[in-house]
Amino acid sequence: RKPIIRIIGSLNIDFVTLTPRVPGPGETLEAKSMTVHAGGKGSNQAVACGKAAYTSPTEQDVQVEMLGAVGAGDPYYASLLKPTLTKSGVDTRYVEEVEGVQTGTATIIVDEGSNGENRILFVPGANHHVDDLDKIISTTTQDGVPDVIVMQGEIPKPTVLGLLSTFNSDRHKTCVVFNPAPMFDTIPLSALKDLAVLVVNETECLLLFKAVQELRDIETPSEENLTPHLDRLTSHLHDLASISIVVVTLGSRGLYYSVASKPTRQQARGLIPAAKVAKVVDTTGAGDTFVGYLSTALARHVSKQGSLEGFDVQEASLRANEAAAKCVQRSGAMESIPFGYEI
Ligand code: RIB
Ligand code: NA
Repeated sequence: RKPIIRIIGSLNIDFVTLTPRVPGPGETLEAKSMTVHAGGKGSNQAVACGKAAYTSPTEQDVQVEMLGAVGAGDPYYASLLKPTLTKSGVDTRYVEEVEGVQTGTATIIVDEGSNGENRILFVPGANHHVDDLDKIISTTTQDGVPDVIVMQGEIPKPTVLGLLSTFNSDRHKTCVVFNPAPMFDTIPLSALKDLAVLVVNETECLLLFKAVQELRDIETPSEENLTPHLDRLTSHLHDLASISIVVVTLGSRGLYYSVASKPTRQQARGLIPAAKVAKVVDTTGAGDTFVGYLSTALARHVSKQGSLEGFDVQEASLRANEAAAKCVQRSGAMESIPFGYEI
């Protein structure tokens, strides 16, 4: 069978306003445009996985499934989100349509004056109804577990922590990719134990050291540029939480990866500079593109080798990096994610 990835996460409608600058308090400012896009970290990552799996315009070598919730009868889901997922090769059969709630939304301000940097206000809506842990576990395990499960922080915390505890254990032969965005305020160390892949940006990395009690005493830098501290910080994540692979995305500076190989505790780590970009249009979805591409590479490896051992993080990250660079040169989230055969 084909490798299987199950994304368990959010689906949002993005209302994106382009502005020459961000207005101050009490200020009304004329902005350039407002467009509606399909978004949500969960469904963006699903689209990135689905598109990454296209080795040619007609061949997809990984099966990608989205599990989440939207508001029943939502015209944006029917006309925008669902068709975009389908076109990207994502199976939407596990997306539940919940009565009486709104689909999640994100109000996004893209600041053209500051290199397309974005600010996002996220309203969970139906995403908060992804809360029936037993049901999610049983649908996820009914025909054998997926090779890779991908999760973010836009669905309820008990669901995410429950799934991490269930699927990180050796009982299930699946690799979990966890992108805690947004970061939860507290996370028990036990939920991270034996996690296969953690992907965070610099802000999330610092917040993680505050969210986990056992990591709180570790000295963290006060500035946002973590580059000089990454070896030390990621070593703690390998040693205390036994996380196998940690990736810290560094925006326009690229990314850092660190791999703990279990038996010897030897680490392979390094920086990968960002791919060259002519003009940044909209950075929305760049992180999601990276996570999706990395997850697809991981699913191919795990389904062939039976485990994470031997996965070439560097090679997969380089490719994921290139895909993210393509994403920032086009507007929107999902539509701006390239297909695997374009890389
Ligand atoms: O990561 C980008 C996404 O974050 C947007 O699509 C928006 O929906 C928010 O959830
Ligand atoms: Na984009």
